[in-house]
Amino acid sequence: MHVVVLSSDPRLDETIRAAGISALRPAGETRGGAHPQPAAIIADVRGLAQLPAALFAARKEYPSASVILVASTLDPRLMLEAMRAGVSECIQEPLNPETLGQAIRKVVSGAQPAATGQVFAFIGAKGGVGTTTVSVNTAAMLARAGKTDVLLIDLNIGLGDAALLLGVEPRFSVIDALENVHRVDESFFGSVVEKTKVGIDLLGSSDRMIAGGIDPQRLRRLIEFAAARYRYTVLDVPRSDVTMLDTLEVASTVTVVTTQELPSLRSAGRLAHMLRTRYGAARVMAVMNRVDRRSEISLADVERVIGDSVKHLIPSDYRMALQAVNVGRPVALETGALADSFRSLAGDLGGIVKQKRPASSGVFGRLAFRRA
Ligand SMILES: Nc1ncnc2c1ncn2[C@@H]1O[C@H](COP(=O)(O)OP(=O)(O)OP(=O)(O)O)[C@@H](O)[C@H]1O
Ligand SMILES: [Mg+2]
Repeated sequence: MHVVVLSSDPRLDETIRAAGISALRPAGETRGGAHPQPAAIIADVRGLAQLPAALFAARKEYPSASVILVASTLDPRLMLEAMRAGVSECIQEPLNPETLGQAIRKVVSGAQPAATGQVFAFIGAKGGVGTTTVSVNTAAMLARAGKTDVLLIDLNIGLGDAALLLGVEPRFSVIDALENVHRVDESFFGSVVEKTKVGIDLLGSSDRMIAGGIDPQRLRRLIEFAAARYRYTVLDVPRSDVTMLDTLEVASTVTVVTTQELPSLRSAGRLAHMLRTRYGAARVMAVMNRVDRRSEISLADVERVIGDSVKHLIPSDYRMALQAVNVGRPVALETGALADSFRSLAGDLGGIVKQKRPASSGVFGRLAFRRA
């Protein structure tokens, strides 16, 4: 493994070499021509007020290398700039071979600890189809049935309402988590998540927007860390954000939420197709919310458009859904057909309670999916 060092201080190279890592200067500074891709770019920003131009040049030259900053203090403005530039790690003085070597190896070894938990993403075919309701209730059921730790991340930056459905007002948001993802460790989640009464930890959306949009690299890292820390991580993903749709590699399942209405169905078909192409058919599934048995659009129609079977049907219960929001307690904790459908969905995803799709009883049996 070798790294490329951008610094005016030759002692930095020596310290890195003392850690057993080969330290080279960028190809432009040496006469030996281009290096093979380094594992990381180490940029020395001690005494600098902004990121050096050489860093941007090096990133262009070595696009797959992680970036590590060496700083004397964690100046907030510089840190913000660093985060926007996708810097993975920041090492502060005093520098010694041990800390430097450890930090470089941590970042290079993929930075991400091996994910052991499962990640379930939910994406609405259209706004208002009930993606947040389904995400929150699935998370609540997973926490309850599995008696395990569950994290819900509301990725609807600036617009999310998962916190409302859970009856909490989080102090920190997913933006705080993303802005600090370079220092993510065991205690990190403990300090940024909001504990809820239903046993879910929540990383809620925030009121403020994020300048320049979300950095996919940072989001990926956050999700990967969540997967390493939590048994289940549930993501409420905004459909409109293409960046986010591109960061779901870690997800075990990506669920498209649709209704029987024509506009959402049309969009569900496209979305499911796009997700299957990107993540593989085995990981993509569709559920139908607010099922309307009198609809002119039958289940067979829905499945034809989506190009796959609809795995779960979630009944429509306006009163119950409204009541749940008003008291900030997910319907999954009540009794009834709506709660049953979330239990079945959570069980299916988490493999907690294996339930077969009912052939002629239950929700399917009661619904006459025929044209009127
Ligand atoms: N199964 C259901 N039966 C009746 N009403 C429901 C059901 N699911 C969701 N709703 C209601 O539909 C509305 C929209 O739900 P929700 O906020 O979950 O949708 P969303 O897709 O997340 O919306 P947005 O696009 O704004 O994020 C809410 O008023 C909710 O109570
Ligand atoms: Mg929502």
